[in-house]
Amino acid sequence: MVLIRTPSDIQSSEITPESVYRERRRFMQAGLAMAGGLALGPQVLQAKTGAYGNLPRSPLSTDEELTELKDVTSYNNFYEFGTGKADPAENAHTLKPSPWSISVEGECAKPGTYTLEDILKPHALEERIYRLRCVEGWSMVIPWVGFSLGDLLKRFEPTGNAKYVEFVTLEDKEQMPGQRWPILRWPYVEGLRMDEAMHPLTIMAVGLYGDVLPNQNGAPIRLVVPWKYGFKSGKSIVKIRFVEQQPVSSWMRSAPSEYGFYSNVNPEVDHPRWSQRTERRIGDFIKRKTLMFNGYADQVASLYSGMDLRKNY
Ligand code: MTE
Repeated sequence: MVLIRTPSDIQSSEITPESVYRERRRFMQAGLAMAGGLALGPQVLQAKTGAYGNLPRSPLSTDEELTELKDVTSYNNFYEFGTGKADPAENAHTLKPSPWSISVEGECAKPGTYTLEDILKPHALEERIYRLRCVEGWSMVIPWVGFSLGDLLKRFEPTGNAKYVEFVTLEDKEQMPGQRWPILRWPYVEGLRMDEAMHPLTIMAVGLYGDVLPNQNGAPIRLVVPWKYGFKSGKSIVKIRFVEQQPVSSWMRSAPSEYGFYSNVNPEVDHPRWSQRTERRIGDFIKRKTLMFNGYADQVASLYSGMDLRKNY
């Protein structure tokens, strides 16, 4: 993939050594692309030759410039494979994404164990280009391959007692060696309120960049909630539980003063140890302002009307 942007809005005071390096590389790539006679647009997708090439693009997609595939797959948070950003790409080869099944439990009429094939069969996959913003202050734009979580959950016929949904990642020390250390409470758990889970923006992703999910990105199936900090988007899901009580996520359990249940992107509320006003888009060298609900406020702010977002962080 080749991406070109003219850095006309860059102030020299904001240039850091790393960014100088990155931009120089971009200009070299631009030069090579022009020499090759390629047409250059604001968002240039790499050729889609993978398992999910040529899927329709959802109108819910952003048209922002994509983060390069190599960054999407080598700068990850997946603590089951280590806490360094490069660790998941290096270590996640021990994960076996096939065969895979998901156990559906709790407040629903159709609990059971469903194979990944059962899960996927009735759903039309599409490309959803979403921002993912991490609470650590970086963000990416990723062309996910996925389908609506709400459509999936409806198939299990949740009862009136289902107020929340819990998502549980695989627990297996052989496949996920990082689970030998108590860095987080294993298995990794995330949760959504039912209306958040049913929102049309919320997806289960099974691929990115037109191909199956790389292990380090949460193969074979993960949650993506684009208006929340990335840490709400649990990876390698093996259990979906409909529950009446608000679930306790692994991050809430490990640092309750830093990570709440809601985890909405909110530039007005600082993390206890750092500001949340700006973010660095991976591949860029100047920081940008972080947008409320990660730029999805028009679609999701109403879910939280009347709530104090300082208390419900
Ligand atoms: N899911 C599991 N099981 N384990 C994790 O450590 N990290 C979260 C989230 N899902 C995490 C997880 C965090 S902090 C982020 S920012 C995103 O995954 C990162 O997703 P990516 O590596 O695909 O960009």
